[in-house]
Amino acid sequence: MDLYRHSINVILNNQDKGGAFIASPAFPTYRYCWLRDGSFIAHAMDRAGEHESSEKFFRWVGSTINRYAAKVDILTAQLQAGKIPDNRGILNTRFTLDGFEENVDSQWGNFQMDGYGSWLWGLAEHLRSTRNYALLDELIDPINVTMHYLKLVWQLPNYDCWEEHPEYLHPYSLATTYGGVAAIADLKAAGKLSSCTFDAQGFADEIKAFLTDHAILNGKFIKHLWPAKEGQATTPVIESGVDASLLGLAVPYHVFDLSNTAIIGTVQSIEKELHLLHGGVYRYKEDVYYGGGEWILLTAWLGWYYALTGEKTRASELLKWIENNAEPNGDLPEQVSDHMLAPIFFEPWRKKWGSIASPLLWSHAMYILLVRSIEDMKAQEVC
Ligand code: BGC
Repeated sequence: MDLYRHSINVILNNQDKGGAFIASPAFPTYRYCWLRDGSFIAHAMDRAGEHESSEKFFRWVGSTINRYAAKVDILTAQLQAGKIPDNRGILNTRFTLDGFEENVDSQWGNFQMDGYGSWLWGLAEHLRSTRNYALLDELIDPINVTMHYLKLVWQLPNYDCWEEHPEYLHPYSLATTYGGVAAIADLKAAGKLSSCTFDAQGFADEIKAFLTDHAILNGKFIKHLWPAKEGQATTPVIESGVDASLLGLAVPYHVFDLSNTAIIGTVQSIEKELHLLHGGVYRYKEDVYYGGGEWILLTAWLGWYYALTGEKTRASELLKWIENNAEPNGDLPEQVSDHMLAPIFFEPWRKKWGSIASPLLWSHAMYILLVRSIEDMKAQEVC
């Protein structure tokens, strides 16, 4: 089984004709397109040379954001009136494949800002590899809407990337915002985006300073932050500990360098608390979703980090673990249940939503990204 080729096919076969990527075709709750998953999937398609697929996705994002752009005016009015933003003003985290808000589950935690930074970052990566800057003219409206939206929401509590904890701010989500905004700043500096009047560089600097000042505790990044209120500054939520998604602060959103001491401290803590010896990577210690298994996409993410730091053995070991945990037909699930953190929670979730999502397109995407980054590392060794 050529898992790399299979991964590309799983993604291509599950891309809607309009460009949306379904999160997982066989898992009813995931029959939508999330901007978070989609941005990584599009990036994987770019790295695999499948640029048509990623371009279609970015066009889909653009038209979807345009459809709901007026919500940002409502949000502005809500905030000016000192109100807590509600569904009328926030941009959703997931959409139907034809680009409409999903309205089956009105309780879904739709206020998750990370996908909005991620798509800007993914778009800039797409342009870096294709040089198709004409796409920027086409997407200038949704880019401006997104920048405006992020400026309004970045310090508001919202759901994290696991769709939990709406009471806090999340360094991961802030990192995606930085990644997107800094990418726009770079495009402006390169003269590719003169019609964007936003001070993107100033905004990116502000987010980085905020993370530097508030998100580091005992030499590493922390999962959640208390938002500032009534004269009290933002503070780390001490008990929130480490989360594997904090890798995003370095890879790929590059708020901080791979050699930053707090990044190194965070990776050490992920290794100690969330990575089983010769195994996969958990999301966070208290995870109970489907019993809290090891996640394919996070295992690939840690491998991606090691490929970039030149730690070939570690990266290859993580790659092997993923390959060993593919289904017989090559599909990659969301998580693997051999060593669950909280096994008693597996069955209740299975009863509620069915078997673990598989194939999960985001898992396949991260596998592709890991394969490509290991290839890059090998090519550099030869040079
Ligand atoms: C995860 C999200 C993901 C979604 C779709 C959820 O269970 O927590 O991060 O975007 O599934 O894959």
